Amino acid sequence: MKALLCREFGPISNLAIADVVEPNPGPQQVVIEVHSAALNFPDALIVQGLYQIKPPLPFSPGAELAGIVKTVGSEVKHLRPGDRVLAVTGHGGLAQACLADADQCMHLPDTLDFDTGAALVLTYGTSFHALRHCANLQAGETLLVLGASGGVGIAAIELAKAMGARVIAAASTTEKLAVCKEVGADELINYETEKLKERVMALTHNLGADVVYDAVGGKHSETALRSTGWRGRFLVVGFASGEIPRIPLNLALLSERQILGVFWHTAALRDPKSHLANMQILQAWLAEGKIRPRITERLPLDKAADAIARIAQRKTIGKIVINP
Ligand SMILES: NC(=O)c1ccc[n+]([C@@H]2O[C@H](COP(=O)([O-])OP(=O)(O)OC[C@H]3O[C@@H](n4cnc5c(N)ncnc54)[C@H](OP(=O)(O)O)[C@@H]3O)[C@@H](O)[C@H]2O)c1
Repeated sequence: MKALLCREFGPISNLAIADVVEPNPGPQQVVIEVHSAALNFPDALIVQGLYQIKPPLPFSPGAELAGIVKTVGSEVKHLRPGDRVLAVTGHGGLAQACLADADQCMHLPDTLDFDTGAALVLTYGTSFHALRHCANLQAGETLLVLGASGGVGIAAIELAKAMGARVIAAASTTEKLAVCKEVGADELINYETEKLKERVMALTHNLGADVVYDAVGGKHSETALRSTGWRGRFLVVGFASGEIPRIPLNLALLSERQILGVFWHTAALRDPKSHLANMQILQAWLAEGKIRPRITERLPLDKAADAIARIAQRKTIGKIVINP
């Protein structure tokens, strides 16, 4: 079968299509014929050896996918060959077939196509866990989203609107902000050309935002924390800018602000019941049209390395789906 292969950690340009042997499932695993694999920022990190998790070499990137079960391990009870599923595997999705732990797979409803299924779990799962469980976002509160036109950012906008919050979207270009508006953001800030804190204060009658969703890190994080009000909550989601900011802790003390870490995949593994409940709510909201993954590009496997490079270069909007 064909797979996009990372033979050693290094530049994204080293990724290459290769013929590899199809995997065999262990007792509690399945092999999935991959129809759609959605790309995420961590794909760019994992192949460079910059992610928290370093898979054994060689491996294929691709953390989330949807497809059809081909073979099942001897101890797997709830899945059969022919089942339509979606799965979060961490890596391996950018191949024609992928090994997955059976308990990391969920049935894909007939109403959901493979591309949408693949693009749903990681970004919406992360943002829902962050907003609901970590920040306890309430209807009527104001959420500031940094990097709002990216994968998790768009999900955060849509989910916060579905939860009844007011959303201020911050991004770096007019084109990116237009997408934020289209998916439901109430207010827009270009954080490369405008003063972030002044704009947030003006938009909140000087009260500040209630919650900040920061998947970017770098130079805007401290300003965004300073833009929260009394008991504001600041979600540490990621560092797409490549810079992990150092925050003076007096900023937490002064307004009783809370700085909250978000680590969705580990949280989902540690609390599978909450994860399943979240996924059921997300699937219901998808069916009701409250959320809709913004798939901006659908590409074949041999275009996946270029797409991962463009994610790392800040050149993409929304989700890219690969069809191996
Ligand atoms: N904590 C968790 O559980 C969890 C789960 C999933 C993802 N994440 C993390 O969340 C972050 C965003 O993921 P994503 O899939 O949404 O990524 P994405 O689609 O690439 O979006 C990231 C956004 O960050 C902004 N950015 C600023 N500087 C950048 C730079 N130097 N390179 C690339 N982007 C830059 C860009 O927006 P502007 O150009 O508008 O600034 C971009 O739209 C990543 O760090 C990822 O690892 C964390």
